[in-house]
Amino acid sequence: MTKTAYRAVKISEHVYWVGAIDWSLRDFHGYATPHGSTYNAFLVLGEKITLIDTVKSQFKDELLARIASVIDPTKIDYIVSNHTEMDHSGCLPDIIAAVKPEKVFASVNGVKGLPQHFRQGLELTAVADGSTLSLGNLTLQFLETKMLHWPDSMFTYLQEDGVLFTSDAFGMHLASSERFDDELAEETLWEGAATYYANILLPYSGLVQKLAEKLTQLNLPLKLVCPDHGPIWRSRIGQIVRRYVTWAEQKRTNKAVIVFDTMWHSTEMLARAIGEGLTDGGTEVKVLSLAGTPRSEVATHVLDAGALLIGSPTLNNNLFPTVADVLTYLKGLRPRNLMGAAFGSYGWGGEAVKQVQEIMTGMGIEMVGDGLRAQYVPDEEALAKAYALGQEISAKLLAKF
Ligand code: FEO
Repeated sequence: MTKTAYRAVKISEHVYWVGAIDWSLRDFHGYATPHGSTYNAFLVLGEKITLIDTVKSQFKDELLARIASVIDPTKIDYIVSNHTEMDHSGCLPDIIAAVKPEKVFASVNGVKGLPQHFRQGLELTAVADGSTLSLGNLTLQFLETKMLHWPDSMFTYLQEDGVLFTSDAFGMHLASSERFDDELAEETLWEGAATYYANILLPYSGLVQKLAEKLTQLNLPLKLVCPDHGPIWRSRIGQIVRRYVTWAEQKRTNKAVIVFDTMWHSTEMLARAIGEGLTDGGTEVKVLSLAGTPRSEVATHVLDAGALLIGSPTLNNNLFPTVADVLTYLKGLRPRNLMGAAFGSYGWGGEAVKQVQEIMTGMGIEMVGDGLRAQYVPDEEALAKAYALGQEISAKLLAKF
């Protein structure tokens, strides 16, 4: 494929999508991405021609080719960097060198962070929250969105077209030939958005709630919401904002997620028995074996759960490695309003369940019991206790409604 195969896509009167499609991406710093990703960048054709964000460094030529399908890239006057993370800024120094823009804009924290990434002098201009930038016939307005999800994150709004460029917010890791939400199946769309929220934005849910309030107050006319990953929202803008509000609330639901790994199926037997107890109690259950479930998929299931139960065998007086991994990951994502329990089988020491219990308690999870343990292979009594634990948690979940 030659560079001329890459075309820009017109998305509004003055804006073209000029991003890159990463069909091959399968891992994004520990987040499994079975459907690849996109790095969206946007070209605003004002009297001052402006590029909003760039792409991952290896896709620089694709970005330039898509721009070149509309204009000579050296005609770009301004670049706006909404987010410093390298999937959006990776080729920024190369693009600056190639197009020699008059100015490059970023948030105050972006101006601090970008040079620390590239270890070279970059001439950057900081823009304040609420400030505007004239492109001659068009106006950009900047909205600081600090810690959604980096200190430098900001949104840029093109007033005349009603287009909000939202950096990572409202995005999803999905490589597709479709550019708009209404060109994709609902299931693909909502699963992608939920997975992204659970793995990127969940720790900042309090700020998401404040952002939703701010957007309501600003009452910006929105024709398009353009994240830096995945489809552009044009038909379901209200729905995706409402889903963000719901996910940010993390209300306790009648759904339990059981996560485990196992050495000789004993911890698995406990997981299944707990699951039966929960199911018979009337709770929706997901039983996830870490032998085949990426940590990011676990996080997505936890997003709308009311209870999290984690099982680990004891290996060399310690947690099983995959359980330690998922606990570390989930701890960082800071899920709230969960009930929980720890369980596991052991041969002689049995330390793992206590460790799971301590970590989950430290995460602020409302623990039920002190940790269910069974030596070697669970007998009928141990399985009955596991079933009863499931029933107890189900009853407690239902009592909350
Ligand atoms: Fe898509 Fe925070 O970078």
